[in-house]
Parts: sequence; C-alpha cells; structure tokens
Amino acid sequence: MMMPRITRREFLGQTLAAVGGGALLSAGGLTLARPAAAAVAPGQHVLPPLPYAYNALKGLSEQLVTWHHDRHFKGYVDGRNAVETALAAMDPAAAGFDAKTYAGLKKQETFHACGQILHEVYFSNLGGDGGAGGQAVVAALERDFGSLTKWVADLRAAAIAAGIGWGVTCWDPSCGRLVNFSVESHQLGAVWGAVPVVALDCWEHAFYHDYGPDKGKYLDVFFQNLHWDRINERFQAAGGQ
Ligand SMILES: [Fe+2]
Repeated sequence: MMMPRITRREFLGQTLAAVGGGALLSAGGLTLARPAAAAVAPGQHVLPPLPYAYNALKGLSEQLVTWHHDRHFKGYVDGRNAVETALAAMDPAAAGFDAKTYAGLKKQETFHACGQILHEVYFSNLGGDGGAGGQAVVAALERDFGSLTKWVADLRAAAIAAGIGWGVTCWDPSCGRLVNFSVESHQLGAVWGAVPVVALDCWEHAFYHDYGPDKGKYLDVFFQNLHWDRINERFQAAGGQ
C-alpha cells in the first residue's frame, strides 16, 4: 500500500523537530534528511522559495539572484524530476530494455540531484551579515582549520580549484571534522556520508552578470552575506561537533 505523500512545504510546516532519531535539517528551507513518511515521490521535487528578498544580498544584484534561483536552481529541480520520471518508466527486467538510455539517465540523475542539494545549501547560507557570533560551527571551523580566516582562504581555494563547480565545507563523520571539498560540476568530488554545511557556488552563472571575470570580488561578497545561525543549525542537525 502506498503511503500518502505530502508536499515539502506541508511537511516543513508540520514539524521542524528531529524525527525518529534522524536529524531533520530545515535551515532556510533546506531539508537534507527526512523520514520515510515524508518521502518525495519520484518526479515530485519542489523548488523551495528564496528565504529572503531577491534584493536582500549585499553586492549581488536582484537580477543575478533572480536568474540564479528562478532559472538555474529551478532547472536542477526540474531536471531531477524529469530524470526520475523517465527512470520510473523503465524496467531493467523487461525485454528490450534500453541500457544505453538508462545509463545516460543515471548520470543525469546524480548531476541534477547534487545541483539541487548544493543550491539549497547555497541559498540558505546567505541572507546574513557575515558576522560570526560564537556559534558552535565557528568554534569547530577554528578548531579544524586553525582560524576562521584560514577556513575562508581554504574554501576560496577549494572553490577556485573546482573551476566550474563548488567549494563545499562538509561535516565528515568518517574523520570527525569539517573538511573543504572541491567539487567539479555538482557531483564530481562528493564524499559518501559527508554532509554539506557551507556551499560556495563558482559556476559563472553565480557571479558573471555582476562581476564578469573578477571571481575574487564575488568570493569576497559571498562571505559578507553568510548567515551563521542557519549554517550553525545545519551543522548541528548533521551531528557536527
Ligand atoms: Fe548555481
């Protein structure tokens, strides 16, 4: 018997607490862990609203943020839905199964899913004044990187190293500390079990409208807009220590 499905917003409206011993991450509309009772059926992902006004970010224009959220982020949500719907219609056990089409869809599945997840983290990262105020995640970053300044420098380097990709600070339970990973595209560089805490988008669509090739100025602005309370909520919900 199929369990009733509810929308993401309905679910978030019902409970933002930890459920069944599993952490529910809801910072800025972000949900990286959900109980099975609130599962998203294949093809039913929904673009979360921007958790602040489109013109709220310092140094990032309303036009850029609108395109980034409403076109690019939405494209990954729509892409994931399309891929999941197509996969759901395929039967690997059936005669005439199209393995080549299936293989292409499986590659697209991780691309779009990771694009969706990282953009959720990215937009919920932002909307603050960049000022860290004694949150547990800040203490953990200072412990694991030596200082907040060193973490910033390393995340910038990881993001630049990715080229078209991301720098992602993750709580990595396999080593019990925060780690900056360099992720090409959206999915090439992910580590199993590591939970994104801060995601820094270095695709050109994230900055080129406002800064052209001057990626460094965009990176400055990114850190000036961090919302540390939401980052801390995500870190703690991930089991970070
Ligand atoms: Fe992006």
